[in-house]
Amino acid sequence: MPVHGASFPFLLLVLLSSYIHADAHSHDPNHHLNNRDGLSHWPDPETAYTLPPDPIPISTREHWMRRAVEALSDLNDGLPCPFAAFGCVIVNHSAVATGRGGIADVELGVELGSEVCIGANAIVKEGNPTLHGEVAAINNCTAILTHPAGKYKLTGPEALNALGDLSLYTTAEACPMCSSAILYGGFKEYIFSTSIPTLRAHDWPQIVIRSTEIFARSVGRLSAHRTRIVGDVLADETEELFKWQFRDAQAACPRGCVWEADGDGGHGGCVKGDGEAKGMHAHKDEL
Ligand SMILES: *[C@@H]1O[C@H](CO)[C@@H](O)[C@H](O)[C@H]1NC(C)=O
Ligand SMILES: *[C@@H]1O[C@H](CO)[C@@H](O)[C@H](O)[C@H]1NC(C)=O
Ligand SMILES: [Zn+2]
Repeated sequence: MPVHGASFPFLLLVLLSSYIHADAHSHDPNHHLNNRDGLSHWPDPETAYTLPPDPIPISTREHWMRRAVEALSDLNDGLPCPFAAFGCVIVNHSAVATGRGGIADVELGVELGSEVCIGANAIVKEGNPTLHGEVAAINNCTAILTHPAGKYKLTGPEALNALGDLSLYTTAEACPMCSSAILYGGFKEYIFSTSIPTLRAHDWPQIVIRSTEIFARSVGRLSAHRTRIVGDVLADETEELFKWQFRDAQAACPRGCVWEADGDGGHGGCVKGDGEAKGMHAHKDEL
């Protein structure tokens, strides 16, 4: 029999001694990694991840961030204020194309780049905890790039390679899972709007590790490719998307939405509607 009364204390001793052994090295939490990678210490995220100034005009960044916001209603049956307002668009800035609008953008002489795909948080809809906006968009782009009857018809390796040309725009800073997916995808750029500290200020549950830190701590092949990070684009406009879910409640529904109280005296939430609809609600409540 594997577990006799006599062998149990022995096993315990073995376990304990291996724990003590491990502990002897644990003063430096990076011990194992340092040995493998020859790093004497972790890079400082504040200084290790610096990139040259953004070559793309802020007006272009804002154009695409508005498209990431629009992806929310596009993928939520026209609702501009879904609870999880994490929307994304993936753009090819190498393509001297026309944005979404086409001719008007060309006439303006603005080289916006072109949309490859959009995505939005679909965790609840799909019952899949990995479907944050960024991962949903990456999945969508890969499906579009590799579709045998689609515009691109790429193989798997070709699709992976194509991501290196692309820029991912997201309404809020990527969590560690999505930052890692962006990094493994080797995207050219990643642009976010509302930051993790702002999400926290509105009581959003978060794993508080900034994207710069995830990127700065990546080594080997992952550090050879430097994905540009551009943060806080249009943050003043997107913050309202994240204000009402956990606090500030009725004070601020996003544009196009009004507060609807929960009939049971519960929290309530923002629903699609305008000022007129709000008036109608008030009237209905009075009856
Ligand atoms: C991005 O644009 C470049 C330049 O037009 C093109 O070569 C490349 O295939 C495009 N990639 C995708 C995924 O659209
Ligand atoms: C995928 O992206 C395309 C192009 O932007 C969009 O039309 C489509 O609705 C997206 N699908 C999903 C599931 O996000
Ligand atoms: Zn995420």
